[in-house]
Amino acid sequence: MKQDPMEDTIIKGWTPTSWKDKPVKQIPEYPDPEILNRKFQQLKGLPPLVTSWEIDALKEKLSRVAQGKSFLLQGGDCAESFDAISSPKIVNMVKVLLQMSFILIHEMGVPVLRLGRIAGQYAKPRSNDFETVDGKEIHNYRGDLINGFKSESEIRMPDPERLIEGYHKAGLTLNFLRALSEEGFADLHHPEQWELDFMRNNEYYKEYEEMVTSITKAVRFVEAISPDTFSNLQKVDFYTSHEALNLYYDSAQTRKVPRKPGFYNLSAHMVWIGNRTRDLDGAHVEYFRGITNPVGIKIGPPYTIDETLKLIEKLNPSHESGKIVLITRFGKDKIEKELPGLIQAVRREGFPVVWSSDPMHGNTFNTDDDFKTRNFDHILDEIRSAFAIHRSEGSYLGAVHLEMTGDNVTECVGGAQGLNEKGLSKNYETFCDPRLNYEQSLEMAFLIAREWKKSYI
Ligand code: PEP
Ligand code: CO
Repeated sequence: MKQDPMEDTIIKGWTPTSWKDKPVKQIPEYPDPEILNRKFQQLKGLPPLVTSWEIDALKEKLSRVAQGKSFLLQGGDCAESFDAISSPKIVNMVKVLLQMSFILIHEMGVPVLRLGRIAGQYAKPRSNDFETVDGKEIHNYRGDLINGFKSESEIRMPDPERLIEGYHKAGLTLNFLRALSEEGFADLHHPEQWELDFMRNNEYYKEYEEMVTSITKAVRFVEAISPDTFSNLQKVDFYTSHEALNLYYDSAQTRKVPRKPGFYNLSAHMVWIGNRTRDLDGAHVEYFRGITNPVGIKIGPPYTIDETLKLIEKLNPSHESGKIVLITRFGKDKIEKELPGLIQAVRREGFPVVWSSDPMHGNTFNTDDDFKTRNFDHILDEIRSAFAIHRSEGSYLGAVHLEMTGDNVTECVGGAQGLNEKGLSKNYETFCDPRLNYEQSLEMAFLIAREWKKSYI
């Protein structure tokens, strides 16, 4: 008898909401379950933000990254804020990601996938549920999808209306992103217009300048011989991702689509599971094991290799290539000890993962003035070690995961412009972790490309 093509969609005991029967971490209790349920049902009825074809295409492209034929640049805000959804901020974010990707493509000579932490990166894990303000205990800020930033008891109360607001904000962001990637960025193909002066004092300035000249020449050449090709170049692929932390939001948008097996999270192309919610028997792993999207897994202390292997097996039992992006975030001082064993174990099991390095989350510290910051050199140290370790293990580091912005913020110290701790207060805007600013991001792209070339050319 012919097998029903939908049969393989039935994953044992799984539904988009089976996570509710498991221990839940990092999702606060909403004060009124009835209102929560009403908002959840409302969100379930709204149209999808992305399509299953786009998700399948991304997975296919990720599988080329896993094979060492391509590179993935994932980056964006630590926490997007509803109020900061404005034209200049989105334009600046897309612009810096595009410019970084041009640098990487030019230097590496392989296709580069752009994946924003954008259009849904609204929920944050926190160490403590509550904080004390003026002697009063209030909920900690958990991202705009859950509560407000201002430290007032009312505003910090988890509010399910924010699930709907988040959906609308993600939709507006995506709509603009799609318009921009269709045709809004012609001028970016003219790197002579990039503002690279800040790098003038940097030891690599000559190298940067030569690269920009060379990209400019290449663009002119393409424009001259085939204007049509150039207008095609203007269309850029841009994918979206966020941490699927507030499972009410993600599961309400997890659906079946006609004539395809499986369930898709149609709120983003890729979602990742955070370092604090990846317990094998917890709610988040239960949710992630049922979706068809490619998924990221953050791995950092505390973790064990054995647990990590079980997790990969659970989320990708068919060992599908392009499905899992393994994002390591050990910190510059721990990576040498931790990463080699993990690479060897994953290889032993034959898991076809995309290896990614998140050099941000293991390298955060507080200054004497109590600014949460990161040092450009520490970030670079972890990236350098990650490339060196993968190189010596004969494995392919195919991705980086960065917290960054296209704006001129002052949140991370160091870099060519020499930002120091005293300068942090000037333009410190982040709602959560410190991000590389425009100049630091471009500089980082040059340096990532240098490290990649050392390993793989
Ligand atoms: C993040 O990416 O913002 C984050 C919270 O990361 P992690 O889960 O790795 O701590
Ligand atoms: Co962060």
